[in-house]
This record gives sequence, structure tokens and C-alpha cells, in this order.
Amino acid sequence: MTDSPAPLVAVIVVAAGSGTRLGHELPKAFVPLSGRTLLERSLDSVFGMREAAQVIVVAPEDRLDEARAIATERAGAAGGYLDVVPGGNSRQASVERGLAVLRPDVDTVLVHDAARALTPSALCDAVVAAVRASGAGVVPGLDLVDSIKRVDPRGAVLAGVDRRELSAVQTPQGFPRRMLVAAFGAATEELTDDAALVTAAGFPVSIIPGDPLAFKITTRWDLRRAELLLATPADPAGSPRVGTGLDVHAFDDTSELWLAGLHWPGERGLAGHSDGDAAVHAICDALLAAAGLGDVGGVFGTADAALADAHGEVFLRETLRRVGDAGFRVGNVSVQVIGNRPRLAPRRAESEARLSSILGAPVSVSATTTDGLGFTGRGEGIAAIATALLVPAEARGPVLSWEA
Ligand code: CTP
Ligand code: MG
Repeated sequence: MTDSPAPLVAVIVVAAGSGTRLGHELPKAFVPLSGRTLLERSLDSVFGMREAAQVIVVAPEDRLDEARAIATERAGAAGGYLDVVPGGNSRQASVERGLAVLRPDVDTVLVHDAARALTPSALCDAVVAAVRASGAGVVPGLDLVDSIKRVDPRGAVLAGVDRRELSAVQTPQGFPRRMLVAAFGAATEELTDDAALVTAAGFPVSIIPGDPLAFKITTRWDLRRAELLLATPADPAGSPRVGTGLDVHAFDDTSELWLAGLHWPGERGLAGHSDGDAAVHAICDALLAAAGLGDVGGVFGTADAALADAHGEVFLRETLRRVGDAGFRVGNVSVQVIGNRPRLAPRRAESEARLSSILGAPVSVSATTTDGLGFTGRGEGIAAIATALLVPAEARGPVLSWEA
């Protein structure tokens, strides 16, 4: 499937539970949350990781085909890293089924509950990094805020417990492969999480800061809470605003081509005071227009020597700063490149990833020719047209943050 090296990390996503406490007619991982199943959402957390990983989905035996279809769809281009296996009667048994299909190169294993559907990818990245740094088990945990009491079976309070000694642990939990495999091999009883098994086997496990968004959807209340977190709240500060931008640059055989945030070795370059990246300039124009801040020419000016040959990122970051100062954040951006060359499709995903990471919001990149007509059709240059949506900075969209 791929020429890149085999992944060194595996993530076992356990999704084989029935969700008794949720009480839905579907098994929990297949329950929709704001239009997408918990399984889809938790897989997005995993496929959003920085580093490639073998992704092992452990699904209910009678829903393997459905799980495979969902996982393949979410994996997209990363489908070659995917395995789907049937689960067991307990979470522990399900993890064990996942461990059985680890690929040979994997040295670090994360185990993640599909039920933690809103887990940020950054938490998965942090667990991988901490396992590597410590060479030991790592679990994300949150400090407790409530006072904790030890009680007897009738509910009488026996004593207080110092909450500073406690941590509420989440997933993904990460381990060096050999420790996790040894711990499962040595297991003599059912324990509630993987860290408990690894600790019982005598290996060290430490806590890193968890994320409140990684909470486990267990009850109907949790499901509703997750829905509300995903909803864009009514906007108290004003409406979203759109802007459009257009930019054109002529080809210039003496320069390198920079387009849509990427370098294109071997392609004809574009003339311009900066690197001539028409797509980026159109995006900046659209963003500035949406914020009511004028246009690229007015804001940056061709007289600024610091911008001679500057790459798109410089313009985008400065535009983003100004848009932020004006009280907005970027909702999304769409840009279309118009021209015969370069062929954008093979690098579209790369370009989208690059531009999206700079703007911290989804950027869609598309391209078209003009059927041989006009200056683009004659191969004299490239045009780009962009639309940007800005939302007031206070409005929280589906990209979540949480003040703990
Ligand atoms: N899990 C699993 N196999 C099992 C039991 C649980 O893969 N035999 C998974 C669940 O799908 C879930 C995670 O382990 O993603 C955490 O378990 P939990 O939240 O308890 O889910 P359920 O067991 O499905 O729910 P309940 O306990 O309410 O029945
Ligand atoms: Mg359970």
C-alpha cells in the first residue's frame, strides 16, 4: 500500500462493548453523536495523530463488516494501516484480541476507548511522546476537584481521602509493546484498565495531564453533553462574515514555483514581489475582506523590502494575526487555482494540510483549467480565487477548547 516505513506505533481502539449503561438499541460505538458515530469520531482522533500508526479496531463480532466500512472510510489514504478484529466478552479480552494482530515493527502501543469520542489528537501525540521519553507506561489523568470519601456498603462515610493522591485516568494509555504484551500474558484477573495490568505485572506507569474532552461517554447524560460541546453556540458577538479574494500572477521562467503553500520543483515559477503564490494571496485577500481590513496590497505593500521573496506563510500568519486582533477566528477557507499547470490534484491533500495548519482551520484547495480560454488557458499565468468565513472569536465551533 505504501512506500513509507512501517509504523512504529499502534493504536488499539476498543469498540466491542454493548453500552449497557447508555441503553441505546445500538452498541455504543455505533451510536450517532451529532450525526456521526462514536466510532467515526474516535477514529478521527487517531487518524489525526502526527505520526503514522497501525490502527486496530476491535469491534463486536456481529458488526465486523460495518466497523470495517466505517474505519476504511475514516482511514482514507491511511487505509493500509488498518486492521479490524472481533472483540471479546470483556474490555480486557477485547484488548487482547487487538494485541494479537500487532505488526512486527510496532514498538509502542496505545489502547483507546472508542467511547472517548471527543479525545483531541494532541492527547494521543502526547502519550506517544511520553512513552518514548520514559520508556514506560503512560496514562493521561485529571486531578480530582471534588472531595473524596471512603464509604461503607450502606453509604456511611468512613473517612476522607486526600484527593491530591488521586488521578482520574483516561485513554489513550500508552506502553512499550513488550511491557503491555507481558502484562497481558501474566494477567490472572480482570482489571478495569490496561495501566492496572501493567502495574500489576511490576512495570512502571506514570501520569501525564489528561484532557477534559477525553471523557468517556457512558450514560445518556454524557452523550447529550458531548452533543452540546459539539454545537456551535448562538453567537452573542455578531454574525459570521465572508470575504472573497482574487489574485493573478504571470509565469516567470527565472523563478521557482511556490503555489498553495507548496514548493513545486521543476514547474515554471510566477512573477511577483514576493514568491508569487497566487493562492495564498487570494486567501489573504479573502480573510482581510471578511474582517473589513482592506486588501493585501494595502496591508502589506510592495515597498516593504522585508517581503521580497517572502513565502506564503509570512503573509498568512500576519493576516491571521490581524484578523484575530479584529476579534475573529477563521471558520474555513476555500481556494480554487485556475490554470493549466501545475497539476494540483496529486498534492492537494498536502497543500490543504499545510494551509490548514497555518490558519488553524480547514482550508479546501481545488483547481480548474479554463478549457484553453483566456490568459490561463494560453498558459500565461495563474489565477486563484478564495472565499473565507470568519466567526467572532468568542464563538466556539466544533474545534473545541475547554477551560478546565
Ligand atoms: N469494550 C470492548 N469490549 C468489551 C467491553 C468494552 O471493546 N467487551 C470497549 C467499549 O466499546 C468502550 C471501552 O471498551 O469503547 C470502554 O468500555 P465502556 O465504556 O464500559 O463501554 P461498554 O462496556 O460498551 O459500556 P457498558 O459498560 O455501559 O456496557
Ligand atoms: Mg463496560
